[in-house]
Order: sequence, then structure tokens, then C-alpha cells
Amino acid sequence: MLMRIAAQAILAHTGLEEKEILSLFEMPPQPEWGDVAFPCFVLAKKFRKSPQHIALELAELVGHEEGLTASASGAYVNITLDRSVHIPFMLAELSKADFLNPNIGHGQRVVIDMSSPNIAKPFGIGHLRSTVIGAALYRILGETGYVPISVNHLGDWGTQFGKQIAAYKRWGNEEQLQHDPIGESLKLYVRFHQEAEHDPSLGDEGREWFRRLEHGDAEAQQLWEFFVEVSLGEFDRMYQRLNITFDHVLGESFYNDKMQAVIDQLRAKGLLEESDGALVVRLEDEELPPCLILKKDGTTIYPTRDLATAIYRHEVMKADRLLYVVGGEQKLHFQQVFAVLKHAGEAWAEQCEHVPFGLMRFAGKKMSTRRGKVVKLEEVLDEAIARAQAIITQKNPDLQEQQAVAEDVGIGAIIFGDLKNNRLNEVDFSLEEALTFEGETGPYVQYTHARIRSLLEKAYARADVVVNTNPSDNDLVQDSHSSDFNDVSDEMLGDAGWALLKQLGRYHGQLIRAARQLEPSVIARFALDTAQAFNRFYAKERIVDGGQWRIQLAEQTADILACALQLLGLKAPNRM
Ligand code: ARG
Repeated sequence: MLMRIAAQAILAHTGLEEKEILSLFEMPPQPEWGDVAFPCFVLAKKFRKSPQHIALELAELVGHEEGLTASASGAYVNITLDRSVHIPFMLAELSKADFLNPNIGHGQRVVIDMSSPNIAKPFGIGHLRSTVIGAALYRILGETGYVPISVNHLGDWGTQFGKQIAAYKRWGNEEQLQHDPIGESLKLYVRFHQEAEHDPSLGDEGREWFRRLEHGDAEAQQLWEFFVEVSLGEFDRMYQRLNITFDHVLGESFYNDKMQAVIDQLRAKGLLEESDGALVVRLEDEELPPCLILKKDGTTIYPTRDLATAIYRHEVMKADRLLYVVGGEQKLHFQQVFAVLKHAGEAWAEQCEHVPFGLMRFAGKKMSTRRGKVVKLEEVLDEAIARAQAIITQKNPDLQEQQAVAEDVGIGAIIFGDLKNNRLNEVDFSLEEALTFEGETGPYVQYTHARIRSLLEKAYARADVVVNTNPSDNDLVQDSHSSDFNDVSDEMLGDAGWALLKQLGRYHGQLIRAARQLEPSVIARFALDTAQAFNRFYAKERIVDGGQWRIQLAEQTADILACALQLLGLKAPNRM
């Protein structure tokens, strides 16, 4: 915000575009030199003068603008905003709709493929990352003028269900499966792979069951439905705790009757080739291995289903853009799928984008479904909540609704612990670290927010601060006789308050950046920096009895922190 004010002044005297000016701005090496520094090197050619010379002239011109002072330092113009002029304006700006909701999406429809766990298998950490990142992107895009549409693309089809049925028929038990669907399914799955090593007939049995399933065999169908139903019940519990909903839950099986059309289309375009009895699309020109479309035994596979899915999202869901929030290990798969679409003449293939993320380990532990060594998400959630509860009991024993707050904090710690990392980074997650109230954590941001709310309550309780009932005005006005902070020329916010206000002004730009880069960590970083800036303000300045501007600043900080937390999927309790 401050940047834009300064940019306007530079723009008026140079003819550069605002965007370029904003990208050139730097922070002065010493805060007392100014609020922002503009390097004049780019102007040397245009004005045929040395950058130092230009800096001198430009500083003179900018300094004449209302509310600005400027000085040259070498090739730089250091600009300082007159605080008494800009503080009221900047504070008011922070709650305006076009500051909070920049419209860069212009109603573009973005289908987000997210979460997408596999039926009859545990909800793994990769799926947790996809869920948490996908949900954050959903909200970030929703706040920036896009129309996001989330789809949970359940892995409910494929040869593994043949194996699952075969194993169930041999060793399964309905009651046990009802009781612990994922645990039992996993046991069956692990046993199947163990025994298949010595008994090759098992593999054939599994393939035969999948063939029957694809051909609509009643028994196979019924067993499959049973697996889907019990698994979904368990996933839904997880989604509820994470506060996640989807616009559509459409598993891979949904596309079963839509794949023949894809195969026909590829054949008609002459793209299908035989290879060892299977059908593939060659992608040499893209330097990619061939994409398998139909297996030797006539069964379809993962890429075929993704082709049908993409076409459906484009045609029926009217997606302008298709995002796939899926682990980086599936990079090749998506390259192939998008390349096949392109070969098939679907120009919108350009609008398909894999949004990958790195591996997450829990205290160094990886996961392998086959061997059954899995970190169970539910256990991680339970533990996080229990630990949060212990910390809260210790910090604030009188807090009401401790259990609810512990849920918000425990779950929040996990979500934030994931999202604060650049999504491509590998994460070694430690619950202990994620839950410290002083570190770079969700609870730290939540705690800062709650602290501000309780300060505000104190401020509101004071007689000289009255809450304005007219919602179009600022929330607070102060009785003009009761404080010596009313004079605008006075230290309205203090240096730390001014630094905090500047930080809040970055929200708009950071939200745009998060949306453009599809990167929730930008918001997490912003929330941490904001919390830190507030805590510095809190340590250095009077707030409750510091006058109207400081209270307004605290209010705006709490509101913007709550916005940032909400975008990431965390609750912002008012007390902790
Ligand atoms: N179920 C898949 C897996 O767990 C992820 C699906 C991702 N989405 C997609 N359209 N392929 O590996």
C-alpha cells in the first residue's frame, strides 16, 4: 500500500509503469533513511544522465509531492511518507474490499483436484498434504476473483481392487472389516503381497477379479461397493476434523463409462499404437516415454482415467483451468496425460497444471503401504490435540472451552506446519516443533491473534473509547477530550506501530502473489511476519491507553491475522 503511494509519485515524474516501479523498490538499508528506496539505474539511458544525477533531480520532484519527503543517496531516492498524512488513510484502506479481495481471477473457473486418497488404503501423509494445500489454494483463489471448484478424485478403481477382492475372498471377514475398514483392508493387502511372492496364482486371481469387476460381475461389484463405503466413512471423519469439504467427490470409477470415447477419439486421430499387445500413445516428440492407454488384457489404467477426467472437467464442469495438487513423484504421469491431450488437439491442455509438492516425513519416518508401515493421520491428529490441551491447561487453566480450543490449536499446528514450507520442499515434520507457542508456528499466530482480541476488549471497556454503531465508519472513535494522543501530529503509532502498519499493507500484494504462484506458504510467511511485527509493537508501545490510532491498528492487525489464518484453514479463537 505504502509502496503504491510512493510508486505514484515516481510514476508521475518518470513515465515508468507502476508495475515496474514496484518491482524495483528496495528497502533502505537503515529504516531512518526512509520507508522505501528507488534505484535510478534504469533511468540513465532514458534521460541520458548518470543515475546519481537523476536521483538528485527525482528526489527534489518527489519531495514536493504532498505527504512525501525524499532525499538522494548515491543512485537511490529514499522516500519517507509523512505519517500524520498517511496513517488515517492507510488504516482505512486495510478494511476495504478491493484491498482484501483483489480481483485477478475475473471469474475464471479453476477445477482443483485435491486430496484424492485411495479406497481401502490408509489416508497417507501425501494425501494430507494434497488436502491441506489444495484447500488453502481453493480459498486463496476464491478470495482473488477466481471461481474455484474442488474435486476429490478418489482412487476407487484399478487392479488393486482385484487384489483386494481376491484377498478378502481368501482370508477376509465382514465383521472385522466393518469394525476397522482401513486397518483390515491394509492387513489383507499386505498379506496378499507377501503370499503372492511364493504363490503366483494369487496374482492371476487378483487380475481375474478386476476383469470381472470391469465387466460388471455382480459379486465383484458388490464387494467393491462395500470397500468404497466403509473407506469413505473413515475418510469423512478425517475431513470433518480438518474442516474440509469438497464441491465434488467423483472417484476414478465415475469415468468408467467415459473412457471408450477417449479411446475412440485417440484411435480416430491415429494416435493409438500397439506395443506388446497393449495400446499406447507415443510421445517421442515431447521426449516422454509412451503413455499406456489400454493394457494387454483390455483393462484401462490410471492415465486413461485421467484423460477422461480432464475432458469431463473441461466440458461438463466448464473449467477454464485445471489444477492437480498431487505429489511431485507423479510428475511424469501428468506430463504424459497433458501431452496426450495436446496431441489429441485439445488446445485447453495448456490450461492443465500439475501443482506438485515435496515429500513429508514424520520425525524421519517415511511410509510404505506395501509393507504396512504407515503413519496414521488420525493418530497424529489425536496426539496434536492432546499436546495442545496440555500446553493450554498449563498456560491458561481458567480458559473455558478448553477442548474446542485444543482442537483448533492442535489441528492448526499440523496444517500450518505443512503450509509454512514452500510446497516443493521436503518437510520433516515434528509435532513438538509445530506446537511451540513461540516458534514459527500456527499456535504462535493464533496466540498473537487471541492476545490482540483480549487487549481490544480491555480497550473497549475503557470509558473514553466508544464503539461506533455506524458500521460504515471506523469501528472506534474516541472522545476528543480524554486523551493526549488525539493530535495527529503526535506520535500516532510509534516506530514499531508504523512498521506494523507497513507490514499489514503488504497483505494485498502477498495474496496476489500466493494466488499467482499457487503457494500458500506466502500467506503463512505473511502471517508470521505480521505476528512478529505486532509483538514488537506490543513490547515497545502503549496500546490500550495509546489512543485511537493504535487501537485501530491493533484491530486491523487482528482482522488481517484472522483472514490469513482462515485462508490457510486454521481457526482463530478469540481466547487461548
Ligand atoms: N489416488 C492417487 C494416488 O493416491 C492420486 C490421484 C491424483 N489425481 C489425479 N487426477 N490423478 O496416487
